[in-house]
Amino acid sequence: MTGTRTWKRITTADGSWTLEHPEHGEACHSRYGAWMEARERYCIPCELNELAGERDEVRLLDVGTGLGLNIAAALEVAAAQNTPLRVVTLERSRDVLLTAIEIGLADPSLATEDSSNAAGELHRVVLSTIADALGSEGTEVPFSGRPDLGSLRLLLGDARDTLPALAPDQKFDVCFLDPFSHRKEPELWSPPFLAEVAGRLAEDGRLSTYSASVRVRAGLIAAGLTVGLGPRVAKKAAGTVAQRGGTLPVFEPRIEKRVLRAAEELRNATNSPDQPTSST
Ligand SMILES: C[S@@+](CC[C@H](N)C(=O)[O-])C[C@H]1O[C@@H](n2cnc3c(N)ncnc32)[C@H](O)[C@@H]1O
Repeated sequence: MTGTRTWKRITTADGSWTLEHPEHGEACHSRYGAWMEARERYCIPCELNELAGERDEVRLLDVGTGLGLNIAAALEVAAAQNTPLRVVTLERSRDVLLTAIEIGLADPSLATEDSSNAAGELHRVVLSTIADALGSEGTEVPFSGRPDLGSLRLLLGDARDTLPALAPDQKFDVCFLDPFSHRKEPELWSPPFLAEVAGRLAEDGRLSTYSASVRVRAGLIAAGLTVGLGPRVAKKAAGTVAQRGGTLPVFEPRIEKRVLRAAEELRNATNSPDQPTSST
């Protein structure tokens, strides 16, 4: 214990717990259900189940490790298909990881409906693996006690530095884009970072985020992706999915127009020699 960690555990409506940021108080997951959000906001729209059924392995880029719950949900899906998951996860706060490990190894996050406890066990595996990863300086480690499930590589630091430092040809089949809100922590929603994330998607890769912001959707388009409507999860607004080309669920025409106009403005700003290219 450092005595400085004050991430606070909160229980969400599906019975699973998440953590609240010590300063701005935003929660790592929807208060309607942390496990529900991990499954329905990330795994389902990324079509992880279908992908795991077709591939020998699935490569996941997890932006914002937090308490590792989105990774646990992905493991649940991949493990059901006996497909190993190779995760690269990006986190700048050692404290959130240490808090999650301290709480979750003893009492993993579990939705009330998951009476079998298998999901909670997967969260424990993730946290135990993150503990291993913290001791091994950015190297890939097998899932703790379950190497059959795949591996995890934790990049500790600001994702704006750690992601570009990956090998240029390292691509991902799936990306969970889950920073705090633009209002609280805008950095990972900036067009340059979105372009970095977009560049990491494999040709047929798929990204999902809870953000429904015109600016974020425009940033992903300006980075060369096709964007579409993500699912509504509980009472939350529909999020955003993105991929390289193809078709995705469409926005209302009014929204579509605003997104395309904003993407055009971003492209013009990026191409203009008079404009900064790193605006948020
Ligand atoms: C909404 S929480 C993520 C929850 C997580 N996906 C999970 O399943 O538990 C956002 C996380 O992003 C991290 N974060 C915020 N800014 C970051 C940055 N610039 N680089 C890396 N991580 C960052 C925060 O510390 C926080 O843990």
